[in-house]
Amino acid sequence: MKDKILLEFEDYLISTLPKVESFHPYFQKALVEMLKAGGKRFRPYLLLSVVEAYEPLLLKNAFSAAAAIEYIHTYSLIHDDLPIFDNASLRRGHPTLHVTYDEVTATLVGDALNTHAFYVLSTAALSDEVKIRLIKELSLNGGAYGMVLGQAIDCYFENKKLDFEKLKFLHIHKTAKLIAASLKMGAIICNTSKEIEDLLYKIGIDLGLLFQIEDDLIDATKDSKEIGKPANNDINKNSFVNLFGIEKTKEKKAQMIEVVENKLADLNPFLRERLQNIVNKYFK
Ligand code: IPE
Ligand code: IPE
Ligand code: MG
Ligand code: MG
Ligand code: MG
Repeated sequence: MKDKILLEFEDYLISTLPKVESFHPYFQKALVEMLKAGGKRFRPYLLLSVVEAYEPLLLKNAFSAAAAIEYIHTYSLIHDDLPIFDNASLRRGHPTLHVTYDEVTATLVGDALNTHAFYVLSTAALSDEVKIRLIKELSLNGGAYGMVLGQAIDCYFENKKLDFEKLKFLHIHKTAKLIAASLKMGAIICNTSKEIEDLLYKIGIDLGLLFQIEDDLIDATKDSKEIGKPANNDINKNSFVNLFGIEKTKEKKAQMIEVVENKLADLNPFLRERLQNIVNKYFK
């Protein structure tokens, strides 16, 4: 069963999808397809969990920020699946956009969702000061200093083996920074102390590494039908599994779970329990 707040958020997210009128035969359909296809909504749930913990009255006001993160994430997946990236034909259990339509459409839908994220964020019922801080956090962690740099390294170093430090740098940028930003943006909305913001960001980096370790294990151990995306697609990648093998990666995962759990102790009881439940649900 999905959390009630996530069901409400889902309706909100769908209501913010761009509605474009033109004589293009399928651009509008392509534009909304991957968002409608679902996904775990892991990052929005993190942001909303922080808000529920510190300022529950602001939950609905936080929806646009949570949606903005999901737009950035979904655009990154659409580009990630393109033939020049990971060349994947399935995503969220649906054919990828470049398969259903064409590569130009998939690329432009990604571009459109990237900018639409900031449009939706601009409509938030939050103070301008908070909105500017959210824009800063999302663009820093999702762009050249974050996810985009990670993707650049991920693709450039295919078939070129990186050592553990560099592999960590890659995955912190590619995956962990957007996850860390999700938690920190929740704290920004609630106007918490700088200490809580920083702690949540640090927890997010560890949680993000754990997330990518799990994602690499999923690629190596599950089948495509179950995960809704191609399996065994990381053969040429600097994945944790390719560096350490499956068994040692599982040990790394267990260590990382401990690192995250230890840091949860300093949070307020509601958020500690919520994040513990998330760890249990997704990684155990
Ligand atoms: C997959 O993200 C890409 C990574 C960053 C590892 P998710 O596993 O969150 O994908 P969805 O949103 O549930 O489809
Ligand atoms: C993609 O990582 C991370 C993004 C920034 C999109 P992966 O390439 O491992 O994601 P999946 O396995 O295709 O979902
Ligand atoms: Mg990739
Ligand atoms: Mg991929
Ligand atoms: Mg993967």
